[in-house]
Amino acid sequence: MSRLIPQPGIDLLKSYADVEVNEADVPLTAEELQRQAASSDGLVTLLTDRIDGAVLGSGERLRIVANVAVGYDNIDVQAATEQGIVVTNTPGVLTDTTADFAWALLMSIGRRIVEGDRYLRQGRYTGWGIQLLLGGDIHGATLGIVGMGRIGQGMAERAKGFNMRVLYYDEYRPPAEREAELGVTFVDLDTLLSESDFVTIHTPLTPETHHLIDAAALDRMKSTAYLINTSRGPCVDEAALAQGLRDGVIAGAALDVFEAEPEVQPELLDLENVILTPHIASASVATRTRMATMAAENCIESLEGRRPPNIVNPEVLDTEAFRQRSQSVAAIGGR
Ligand code: GLV
Repeated sequence: MSRLIPQPGIDLLKSYADVEVNEADVPLTAEELQRQAASSDGLVTLLTDRIDGAVLGSGERLRIVANVAVGYDNIDVQAATEQGIVVTNTPGVLTDTTADFAWALLMSIGRRIVEGDRYLRQGRYTGWGIQLLLGGDIHGATLGIVGMGRIGQGMAERAKGFNMRVLYYDEYRPPAEREAELGVTFVDLDTLLSESDFVTIHTPLTPETHHLIDAAALDRMKSTAYLINTSRGPCVDEAALAQGLRDGVIAGAALDVFEAEPEVQPELLDLENVILTPHIASASVATRTRMATMAAENCIESLEGRRPPNIVNPEVLDTEAFRQRSQSVAAIGGR
């Protein structure tokens, strides 16, 4: 196990196999990951672990990489499939928790809550002012959702309570009945950017979504609009965003994810019109615990020779490489 996860996940794995945990709770180095991969049947990984071809190819024993996250851009899935290694993630369980948090960011940036708190603590609140910290209304505004997967749909559901007009863009459209149920309208990305008061990103990170929001995209947005990102940092060109926020291209942004975590574009740190949180959108006690037990279940199912519930590369099950690896004896960890 590359790092500590909530105890119920560890306990579940320990009831099944030998488990070696990186108790230091800091990411393992590439060499350490390779060593772990070479001596384990299953790896339980976090999004801070880069599971590349070198890690996956470091031994004959590894059969499953169970990521404790819905996103799995930290894993070279193609290399895993070629090597006959199963990859799993933890979808569904974090949908509402993440949408709650994205919604909290949306409200906080629109109504300048974090900035107001800072203002007060700095002793600058010396009297009520009719023009003090004016923000943008949320009710009745237009919400643009980029990525209409589970979490995007969760955002649309929440928007109903605020009587918002909801536009969305995605390569894949849910069925028309689901669109109607959610009250969302499909538009192209340019239309979404130019008409929305709040733009919120819920796409996975892929070559197509890398820098999806760049300087040109920001230019299309209203100068009164806000950007919220709880997906993956590289979906937004952070340097272009910092520049855009400074120049008033858009009104504000709220970011839970960054291009080179844990680094943050230094210019963002000096700006008042941006909220910065440390990748905690799914961080409720219940959800993080469930993510850990889901990853453990995926790991155990796979090592038991069954199809794990959250496999992301099912095609691997038909490969010769997978069959060869499956012949080894199951145990998690242990050198
Ligand atoms: C968190 O970012 C996740 O992908 O679960």
